[in-house]
Amino acid sequence: MKITSKELRQKWLSFYESKGHLDIGAVSLIGDGSTGVMFNVAGMQPLMPYLLGAPHPSGKKRLCNVQGCVRTVDIESVGDASHFTFFEMMGNWSLGDYFKKEKTAWTFELLTEVFGLDKDKLCSTVFEGNESAPRDEETAGLLAALGIRPEHIFYLPKSDNWWELEGTVGTPCGPDNEWFYPIDPAAEASVFPDDYVEIGNDVYMQYRKTETGYEPLEHKNVDTGFGLDRMLLFLNGLHDGYKTDLFSGAIAKLEALTGRAYDAEEGVRRAMRIIADHTRTTVMLIGDVNGILPSNTGAGYILRRLMRRAIRYCRQLGIEPASSMRAVAEVFIDEVYGEAYPLLIEKKAYILEEIGKEAARFETMLEKGMTEFEKCVNGIARKNTFMKEKDPAFVPETCIGGKQAFRLYDTYGFPLELTEEMAAERGLSVDRAGFDAAFKEHQEKSRGDVHAGEAKGGLESHSQMATRYHTATHLLNAALKQVLSPDCNQKGSNINDERMRFDFNFERAMTPEEIKAVEALVNEKIAEDIPVVYREMSLDEARAEHFVGVFDSQYGDVVKTYSIGDFSKEMCGGPHVARTGELGHFKIVKEQSSSAGVRRIKAVLE
Ligand code: ALA
Repeated sequence: MKITSKELRQKWLSFYESKGHLDIGAVSLIGDGSTGVMFNVAGMQPLMPYLLGAPHPSGKKRLCNVQGCVRTVDIESVGDASHFTFFEMMGNWSLGDYFKKEKTAWTFELLTEVFGLDKDKLCSTVFEGNESAPRDEETAGLLAALGIRPEHIFYLPKSDNWWELEGTVGTPCGPDNEWFYPIDPAAEASVFPDDYVEIGNDVYMQYRKTETGYEPLEHKNVDTGFGLDRMLLFLNGLHDGYKTDLFSGAIAKLEALTGRAYDAEEGVRRAMRIIADHTRTTVMLIGDVNGILPSNTGAGYILRRLMRRAIRYCRQLGIEPASSMRAVAEVFIDEVYGEAYPLLIEKKAYILEEIGKEAARFETMLEKGMTEFEKCVNGIARKNTFMKEKDPAFVPETCIGGKQAFRLYDTYGFPLELTEEMAAERGLSVDRAGFDAAFKEHQEKSRGDVHAGEAKGGLESHSQMATRYHTATHLLNAALKQVLSPDCNQKGSNINDERMRFDFNFERAMTPEEIKAVEALVNEKIAEDIPVVYREMSLDEARAEHFVGVFDSQYGDVVKTYSIGDFSKEMCGGPHVARTGELGHFKIVKEQSSSAGVRRIKAVLE
């Protein structure tokens, strides 16, 4: 290795510190919801208010850091040499302080003097201009003055040289200056752009995105981003991202576990890459300060997809998923990231335990699910053969039905995308619209009066959020009885789509330990992904089975009940989610007195 990941991180930070920047460290990978993005996808994301003009709490105008980012738009592409779901962005910022002159000079100095790149080989692109912003002749002039060959400076349109967060409004953005170097620096001649790789960019953030266009910002900012993973690859003269020291330990572990060589066979290599990438992101998401757990909605669902995809590939390589993923996770925590992200060390036992739990949950269903999947595939093949014999003009079916895909999802825990990937391997597709319809039908059945929203990916209506809170209320009620006293009873509750309030009888304030224990118990039941079962029964039966609730109906009445395993049994009109896994992460934000002998808890689902 010419340079290790730890050295690269350090070099970046010390270079910018030497230019008066403050290292602000990294923030959570989980988006705060303000931009509608689930994960932090760029180093600038947490800094948006300051790029728009608010003073940074540190009082400084020059900042730098190395920020973890998670991009999951093309999970299915992971498996090649260059797609990753987690990466680190090395960044630095000017908040209304220096601008193009200093920035071009510093990037040039860093690349040529610190990293030793040849200035005659560097290429740089700038914005060609449009109706929103002028042609960036200033940057081009500065680059030429620094010594970049004029024939290596290119003007490109907005699609190439403009940076903004897709799908957002009110966010800072602007033209960027991108830096390129030959993929093979030793080659005699390299032609731009085919023989070049982008190594990073300086964004001149001087606009605010509006509904209709762009308006100039009062302050002109710089937002620089250089991907650490890519830079590391490049500086070491490698072409496979899994050969850098970020991954070499994990791959070596997988080679030892499987007894197979990474480079021997394309199928093996692909599987190892997927397991390594997805396990790394799993470690980062569970080990984050706002750590999440696998679930059936939102960010938790993305995590589940990653974990279950990795589990499937472990099986494909013939290794036991839980212990293998844990072993790979340990390499990432102990050898690669623990130093830069000390929280991972602190949360190590928890991360490994949660990996084991998800693997165990999926493992029990995976075998049967695979058999079910094979039945679908064979069914299609049989039908095609049969029909073709009857009618030679018959066009063969190539699509797995939505109902079948939903059954795999609902009964066997196969994320739709996993079924799609497995189908694609057999030359088949999946009827997504049919899946959505089956999902919706199921929700309507199990939730009574609630309208189903979007099926996947966590897009949902407000009423669905309230439904989740409603189910969380039942879990909280049961957890309080278990942790504090069986005599704690619900005295009231109030739910909107942002939080829940829950009143119960108890004589004193809860201790921080009790609050933690209640939270942990609720989250444990969420992680267990227990089905929420609806049954109608007579009041007598409900009493006999120890359902709790307000016994205000007349004897002989039929009551509605919901039970969550043996943990919670309540008489209640609903609606509820189908499984506790849909709830996300439960957090108590306040515990206070409500009235004499009654306490009030405010809690959120994240
Ligand atoms: N925001 C810019 C990027 O993410 C620097 O590439």
